Amino acid sequence: MATTVQPTPAVGAPLSRLEGREKVTGQARYATEQPIEGVAHVAIVQAPVARGRVVSVDDRAALALPGVLAVVWHANAPRLAEVDDHELALFQGDRVAYLGQMVAAVVAETPEIAHDAAERLDVRIEQESHDARLRADHPNLYAPETVNAGFATDSVIGDVDAGLAQAQSTIDVTYTTPALHNNAMEPHASLAMWDASGLTIYDSNQGAATARRTVAEVFELEPDQVRVISHHVGGGFGSKGTPRPNIILAALAARLVGRPARVAVRRQQMFHLTGYRTPTIQRLRLGADAGGRLTAIVHEAAVQTSQLREFVEQVVTPTRTMYAAPNRRTTHRVVALNVPTPSWMRAPGECPGMYGLESAMDELADAVGIDPIELRVRNEPPADPESGAPWSSRNLVGCLREGARRFGWDARDPQPRSRREGRWLVGLGVAASTYPAYRSPAQASVRREGDGRFLVRIAAADIGTGARTVLAQIAADALGVAVDRVRMEIGDSALPRAGVAGGSMGTASWGTAVVRACERLLETGGEEAHADTTDEVKAQQARARHGFGAQFVEAWVDAVTGEVRVQRMLGVFAVGRIINAKTARSQFIGGMTMGIGMALMEESVMDERFGDFVNHDLADYHVPVCADVRSIDAIWLDERDDDLNPMGSKGIGEIGIVGSAAAVANAVRHATGIRVRDLPIRLDKLIG
Ligand code: MOS
Repeated sequence: MATTVQPTPAVGAPLSRLEGREKVTGQARYATEQPIEGVAHVAIVQAPVARGRVVSVDDRAALALPGVLAVVWHANAPRLAEVDDHELALFQGDRVAYLGQMVAAVVAETPEIAHDAAERLDVRIEQESHDARLRADHPNLYAPETVNAGFATDSVIGDVDAGLAQAQSTIDVTYTTPALHNNAMEPHASLAMWDASGLTIYDSNQGAATARRTVAEVFELEPDQVRVISHHVGGGFGSKGTPRPNIILAALAARLVGRPARVAVRRQQMFHLTGYRTPTIQRLRLGADAGGRLTAIVHEAAVQTSQLREFVEQVVTPTRTMYAAPNRRTTHRVVALNVPTPSWMRAPGECPGMYGLESAMDELADAVGIDPIELRVRNEPPADPESGAPWSSRNLVGCLREGARRFGWDARDPQPRSRREGRWLVGLGVAASTYPAYRSPAQASVRREGDGRFLVRIAAADIGTGARTVLAQIAADALGVAVDRVRMEIGDSALPRAGVAGGSMGTASWGTAVVRACERLLETGGEEAHADTTDEVKAQQARARHGFGAQFVEAWVDAVTGEVRVQRMLGVFAVGRIINAKTARSQFIGGMTMGIGMALMEESVMDERFGDFVNHDLADYHVPVCADVRSIDAIWLDERDDDLNPMGSKGIGEIGIVGSAAAVANAVRHATGIRVRDLPIRLDKLIG
C-alpha cells in the first residue's frame, strides 16, 4: 500500500499574499484600470451649499465643448427605483441635503474635458438655512427605533442612580470624537458597461454580491442581469461596504451615452460622497466601591446622521459587554443634520465607544487608587453582563496580563509626570479592546482540476487584507493538500454568493463555506461540490461571541512643545485561531496605526457656517506616516474557539483600532498629568 506524505497544515503559516507579486509589479488591475475600449469619463458636480433646491442647470457652455457627450441632472435624469439608501437616488429630485451632494454630472471623451465642462455648468441653487452642528443639547436629538447592526437603542438594567449613590468613587466625564474619514489608498471607482444581456461593472467594493443586489434594485433588473467584478480592491475600511453613489452614476452614465463609462471619485470628493465616521459626544458615569468593583455604568452617546438617510453608529454597544456591574444604562441619540451621510468606518461602534469607556476606566482607576489593569480584572464578568449568555471564549485578562509582562508594566510608577527622558515626559497607558465575532451566510464551490489540483470559487472580497490567501490555506487543510494545489477565484458576483468583507466576518463566513464545500467533495468523491451555509449560520447561537485584546502604549510628550510621539505600542489579542500569522499581524498593526491617527491627528473639521468639511484632502487631513509609527508589535494568545466556525477563528480586521486611541490618551495623561477628553490630542491641548 502506498503511503502518502501529509502536507504541513497551511492554516497558521505566515504565508505571503498570493497576489503580492502581481500587485507590486503593477499587473493587478483595479476597478478602472481594465483595458476596455471606448470608455467615457464622468465628472461629478457637487452642491456648493448645505441646504436648498436646484432650480436650474444651464448646460449650453458645457455641451458646446468638443468631446462632451452628456450632462445629467434632475430635470433630464432617467427615473431610478427607490431604495432604502437615498444617497443612491441620483438626480431624482431637486433637494440639496448637504454640501457636496451630487447635483449633476458631465460625461465626456476624456476626464480633462469632463472636468472642464463641469466648471462651465451654470447651476442655480435656491439656498435655505442649514444646521450642521452636533451638540449634546440639540433640540432635535431623538431615540431611533434601533441603531446600526440592529442593536437596541437603549439598555437599562437595575437602578443606576442608586448604584452611583452607593459608590465609594464616581466619575462623570464627557468625551468627544470628531468626524473621521476613511482614506483608502484607492478612492472609490466604477467602470460600467451595458450590453444585450445586462450590465457589467468593474467596481471597488467590499462585496461584489452586495453591490450587484443593490444595482439590480436601483435599475430594476434581475440580479443575474448584473455582474460586478472586483478582483483587486485598494482598501475600504467600511466605506466600500455598502454601494456608494459612484457605482450608480457609472451605470447611469453608461446607459445615457451608450458606451462604457468610468467614475473615479477624487480624493477631495471622498470627504463628501463616500461616508465617514460620525462625530460623537459621550457622557460616561461610573461608580465603584472601595475595592474597585463597579456599582454602576452609564454611557450615553449623541451622534449625527444626514437628512437623506438614518445611519446611527452603535457607539455604546461595547459597554454592554465589557464589564460587570449590577446597575447599567446605555443610550444612543441621533440628530439629522445638513451634513453628508455618515457610514461605516473600521470598528463602527466599538472604536469610538471604547475610546470613551476605556478612557473613563482609566479615570476611575485614578479616582479609586487602583492599577488600571487590576481595575479591569476585578470587573471581569463571568457571562455577558446584559444578555447573561455564556462566553464562547473570553481571554481579556490573559491579554492584559501577558501585555503587562512584555511591556514592563510593573516598573510603572502610577504617579503622573513621574518619568522624564531629557525634554520628554514619558508615560505608559493601557486600554482593552473588543469586537464581536459575526458570521454571515455564504456559498462556495470546489472543483478538481486534475493533477491533484483544486479550484475554489466564492464571491469573497480581498480588500488588501489577504482574504484570497487565507481562503486558499483553509481550503488546503480541508482538502488535505499543500496550499499551492489550490487556486482561488474571488471578487466576482458571478461566483457563488457571499457576504461583504465587513464586520470582521469575511474569513469566518467565507471560510466556513469553503470548508463545507471541500468536505462534501471528499465525501462524495465527485468532480465538483457546492456548499451553502445559510442554515448552519442561522442555527441558534447560545453564546456571546467576541474577540478581546489589550493595547499598551508608551507615549513621549515634549515638555516644551507638547509634541506627542507613540514611542512603543503593543497589542495582545485573543481572537481564536490565527489563520495566517503574517497577514493577521498586518491587520492588527494596521488597525493600531489607524488608532494612532485617531488619537493624535485625524479630524474632519466641519465649518458649520457652510456645512463643509474644510480639510478635505491628505494635505490637511493627517494620517500617520512611517515616522509616526515607531516600535509597534502585535501578538496573540493561543486560542481556538470551536463555537464559531470550523476554523476556530474570530475576526481580526477591526479589533486592532479598538482601544488604541484610549491607550494613547491614557499614556499621555500618565506622561503629563493632563487628561484630554476631546480627540485628537494635538499639542495645543497640552500646552499653555
Ligand atoms: Mo467594517 S467598518 O464593518 O467594513
